[in-house]
Amino acid sequence: MKNFLDLADFPRDEIVELLALAERLRERPEPNALKGRVLGLLFFNPSLRTLASMQVAMARLGGESFVITPGSGSWQLETRLGVTMTGSAAEHIREAIPVLDSYCDVLGVRAFAEGCDLAADLAERNFTNIASLCRHPLINLESAVNHPCQALADWKTLDDLKVPRRGRFVLSWANHPRALPLAVPAATVHMAALRGMDVVVLRPPGFELPDSIMDKARRAAAGSGGSVSETDDRAAALAGAQVVYAKEWGSTEHYGNAEAEARARSGLGDWMVQESWFQKASPDCHLMHCLPVRRNVAIADEVLDGPRSRVLAQAHNRLVVQMAVLYRLLGAAPAGRLH
Ligand code: CP
Repeated sequence: MKNFLDLADFPRDEIVELLALAERLRERPEPNALKGRVLGLLFFNPSLRTLASMQVAMARLGGESFVITPGSGSWQLETRLGVTMTGSAAEHIREAIPVLDSYCDVLGVRAFAEGCDLAADLAERNFTNIASLCRHPLINLESAVNHPCQALADWKTLDDLKVPRRGRFVLSWANHPRALPLAVPAATVHMAALRGMDVVVLRPPGFELPDSIMDKARRAAAGSGGSVSETDDRAAALAGAQVVYAKEWGSTEHYGNAEAEARARSGLGDWMVQESWFQKASPDCHLMHCLPVRRNVAIADEVLDGPRSRVLAQAHNRLVVQMAVLYRLLGAAPAGRLH
């Protein structure tokens, strides 16, 4: 494994094997596997889970890490190419990334969508520029339209819960005060399709996922025996659901236009997941969300605090699967061969 940027870069069997490694490392820790190795973490955007779980994953394998948050204790970084740097950024990624890369054995970067130009974000223009500057392995810690570490953790959570491979997986749009990026819904629909599930994307009119995201998920489903469909019919979508994965995302129709977006989502307050949503679902239907979540906006307390909620298990599995990713990327020596 050279980089960890997108689950789609790997054959399904390799992901299954990575999940088995994650489980093995959970059951039989290898506290010296990455002794002497260093993980660099560059966060252009805030985080709770990703930041903490990456540092802990490296520490649990015996390695060390450093964190850079541009503009907060370190120089603000310019990401655009060819600009005259008269603004607030003191340094360009063209110098900063190779410098950081030279200090570590593996680099993890979080760089959200810029949220102005949909085509540029769908093409991962910013993250592709960053990747081109790295010599060591690179981990995507959430880019414009991907969050592979979250997707891998969610796949493990589904396996831990013994959700059938062909189970009905509903990715539901959820309410939020403003437009959020497409990274998690894009990664989630692809992950569930690649796992082989019958995936339904449930969203209000105007909040369709872009064709390129749906097409990628459909290609994954074609290879795994799953299916992908999309609807705004909540009752039909939720009937028989074994998993409801709630996620907030912005309208691509009004991408980068906050006023139009606010108009589009006014009146959508009932897109808050409540217990009544589960009346026709499978009795043991699970509720998933990547976190952070706004209580009683996206998901009601009664669901988040109730027996269906798997959000804490998902967050914990971030640590478990990222240990496997680091282990593979750094070619850790199997236990027993270290002295
Ligand atoms: N789910 C997730 O990536 O959480 P953070 O944004 O807190 O890292």
